[in-house]
Amino acid sequence: MSVSILVNGIAELVTNDPEVDGTPLGIRTDAAVVVEDGTIAWVGRAGDAPAADEVRDVGGRAVLPGFVDSHTHAVFAGDRAAEFAARLAGACYDGGGIGSTVDATRAASDDELRRGLAVRIEEMRAQGTTTVEVKSGYGLTVADEQRLLRVARTVTDETTFLGAHVVPAGSARADYLALVTGEMLEACAPYARWVDVFCEPGSAHAFDADEARAVLSAGRERGLGLRVHGNQLGPGPGVQLAVEFGAASVDHCTYLDDADVDALASGDTVATLLPGVEFSTRSPYPDARRLLDTGVTVALATDCNPGTSYTSSMPFVIAMAVREMHMTPAQAVHAATAGGAQALRRTDVGHLRLGARADLVVLDAPSHLHLAYRPGVPIAHTLELAARVS
Ligand code: NIG
Ligand code: FE
Repeated sequence: MSVSILVNGIAELVTNDPEVDGTPLGIRTDAAVVVEDGTIAWVGRAGDAPAADEVRDVGGRAVLPGFVDSHTHAVFAGDRAAEFAARLAGACYDGGGIGSTVDATRAASDDELRRGLAVRIEEMRAQGTTTVEVKSGYGLTVADEQRLLRVARTVTDETTFLGAHVVPAGSARADYLALVTGEMLEACAPYARWVDVFCEPGSAHAFDADEARAVLSAGRERGLGLRVHGNQLGPGPGVQLAVEFGAASVDHCTYLDDADVDALASGDTVATLLPGVEFSTRSPYPDARRLLDTGVTVALATDCNPGTSYTSSMPFVIAMAVREMHMTPAQAVHAATAGGAQALRRTDVGHLRLGARADLVVLDAPSHLHLAYRPGVPIAHTLELAARVS
């Protein structure tokens, strides 16, 4: 028998339902929510709340939809702190360090990979992330890429085949591309929802426009949804390609020209911004304001990976987006919830309308503004609502 749980004492409820208050966050004050069977069964004013089997009083805190971290490389082994330190001392990031994570990942047992992933997923959950995407991309052999996706599948259905991360040392480009679009794709597709490609013609390690086109075409043919790493290290064709292919998301978008912004505004590809990367590589931040002002849907994600952004914290990403990219706190919270959901083409998460998955984040604070106002302070927690089954 299902148990209904009334969550009350909510000073501010972010619903992401614009019908509530005419703004994207759809904020209700003095609100309550009823959860039943893991979904939102009722939302409204606390005084109007129906009776429920259990009551949880959050004591005047803010409640938000769980964060949707739509871009991570959270399954890997090894450590690149020394590479990070060298960058802070002036070295440039060009993707070359990915090879060292590939070596460490290939050498790790399944158990080690599972344990490392579990730690990162727990860090995310403890900070309010309730939906997470995880990519492969540190295996780069048929067996290792499939292994990473099998491990990732134990924690999420949002898994992404990123065999086209870099051309591994010792492989000829054309041979590796044939492998990624052939045998490796076949072996990995059963464990993946998405295919992704690191499209960065300026990098000796990543893939140019024609190569990326081949990866996306093959992935689409095999029934996978499409995502692109684009325009991270410099201007390039990634964004245009993503829009042309109708990809769900193009991620990074650090270097955009007018045509890129126009293309994003005219299509339904989400621009996913990853400010942890600019923080960790000392790069200029993407022009989030321009994208938002042009009507582009923006998502925020951690890009949790050992090279360019070793953070699991969506609250940290929100704070950076506000401080460094001049997004308003409301825009940043929306991008970290509804934006991420759209980047994963999900309608059941990223909002708290009736029928949504009951993924609630509670803040030790009265409003969402505190996510940017109190950077680095662990105020966001996933609300555990394990209903008793009797
Ligand atoms: O999203 N750009 C490509 N891939 C990762 C970095 C991977 C790494 O350096 O290990 C990214 O930034
Ligand atoms: Fe990435």
